[in-house]
Amino acid sequence: MSAAPTERRPAPGGRAASAPVLGRASEPTVFELSSPGRVAWSFRSSGLPPWDADELVPAQHLAPEPVALPELSERDLVAHHTRLTSRQYSVDLGAYPLGSCTMKYNPKVCDTAAGLPGLARVHPAAPAAAIQGWLELLVALEGSLAEITGMHAVSLQPPAGAAGELTGLLLMRAHHASTATPASPPRTKVLIPDSAHGTNPASVTLGGYRTVTVPSDHRGCVDVAALRHLLDDDVAGIMLTNPNTLGLFEEDIAEIAEAVHDVGGLVYYDGANLNAILGVTRPGDMGFDIVHLNLHKTFAVPHGGGGPGAGPVAVTEALAPFLPGPRPVATGAGYGWHTPARSIGRVHGWHGNALALARAYTYLLATGGDGLRRVAEAAVLNANWLRQRLRGHYDIPYDRPCMHECVVSAAGLRRRHGVRAVDVGKRLLEHGFHAPTVAFPLVVDEALMIEPTETESPQTLAALADALIDIAESASPDDHAAPRTTPVGRVDEARAARRLVSTFDARPRC
Ligand SMILES: Cc1ncc(COP(=O)(O)O)c(C=O)c1O
Repeated sequence: MSAAPTERRPAPGGRAASAPVLGRASEPTVFELSSPGRVAWSFRSSGLPPWDADELVPAQHLAPEPVALPELSERDLVAHHTRLTSRQYSVDLGAYPLGSCTMKYNPKVCDTAAGLPGLARVHPAAPAAAIQGWLELLVALEGSLAEITGMHAVSLQPPAGAAGELTGLLLMRAHHASTATPASPPRTKVLIPDSAHGTNPASVTLGGYRTVTVPSDHRGCVDVAALRHLLDDDVAGIMLTNPNTLGLFEEDIAEIAEAVHDVGGLVYYDGANLNAILGVTRPGDMGFDIVHLNLHKTFAVPHGGGGPGAGPVAVTEALAPFLPGPRPVATGAGYGWHTPARSIGRVHGWHGNALALARAYTYLLATGGDGLRRVAEAAVLNANWLRQRLRGHYDIPYDRPCMHECVVSAAGLRRRHGVRAVDVGKRLLEHGFHAPTVAFPLVVDEALMIEPTETESPQTLAALADALIDIAESASPDDHAAPRTTPVGRVDEARAARRLVSTFDARPRC
């Protein structure tokens, strides 16, 4: 393969690029690099006697012709993947202020612990007697999560936040089924604020309920009067996140929970924003009945292409008998599995994404109770510092103290220069930062949802703020062409969803 030309890119974190990064505008695939007969590595001999494939595998099961796999030398293969790696942005490379997603730096000690052979090389079907250490870890993690959330019991099975939501709704359904009388018609509605994350209404539909939207008030919080108007005995529950997706604390949460309980509904906590309240307050103390946690946001598990997530669900004592099973339990003589009496059944093939759970447990041990509180305090401080710094450069629709993320708007830039939130996000890539969440929450026109997290230094925060201010000050219609300095320019973000091409066509393209 010929030597790749060099190209200049800004270094992550807004610092000026000092060294060129190898890469090409369009990287060939391994199929295009393939050359017949090349192999990455081979033994001189397998040590096996010569064998005939037909004797080992019946002819009818053999492919008519060899599969067209790429053939590359080890050297070229390593170079190819190393080049691709250098073209990526990741939490390890710099700030990743993707609001609501909590893309914070994950301490490497968590990976080290999760990689221990005693944890990583265990088959999930191993008998309980052979995995006492694993079971002890899971029981301890459940206990810690129950304490952090102020709930009674936890299921570690759901493998993601959205999976936790569906589990929570199935628990809600099981609860209502258990309290229904022959005369009471099934409840059909779940209330969701208009600022909610899209997975909430999707989970409601999957859970067999109908979404009813609750408007936000002028403060960006649930409009309690409007909520009261919607409450009746057809309401199965309400799904809320606190702080909400505008980064604002729902100050009326106790009143909201009481009002929903008064009509027999349950109160569901979407834990995607738990980072903001760790060690400060707890969903259980606010009146929530069901909580899902995004371990892959709050407790150091890579996500967003970095690895599998974990969305445990925590519940009150009344709902514990419905939890998915089997659950890890202390038996007195050690540890084992137990399925709760009225369990909704399994929500995952095995016991959850076990290594994600091990990472999260390591994070909890390494951070400690007081450390968790400092996480929340620093996350909130950082977001408020950014909000103050951006005032006057961006519109701030709900300009009051925020929690761990702040939502600003590019509506003014759009009016004056035709520059939209998405253009600001793309220009931020040119400054060496990941983009914030754009166009969400839907209640804010041209929203930019910025979550700096607690892991970024004041210097990085200042560089991020400077970049955003520079983008606002120099806004021009040319910004539609951004990003101009990244290996890949602006892509059509909807095309892959609408016209999915999931295979590589090795035939020459004209
Ligand atoms: C508020 C909120 N709820 C739920 C989810 C869904 O979590 P997951 O992506 O793990 O399914 C997200 C994801 O970003 C979120 O921000």
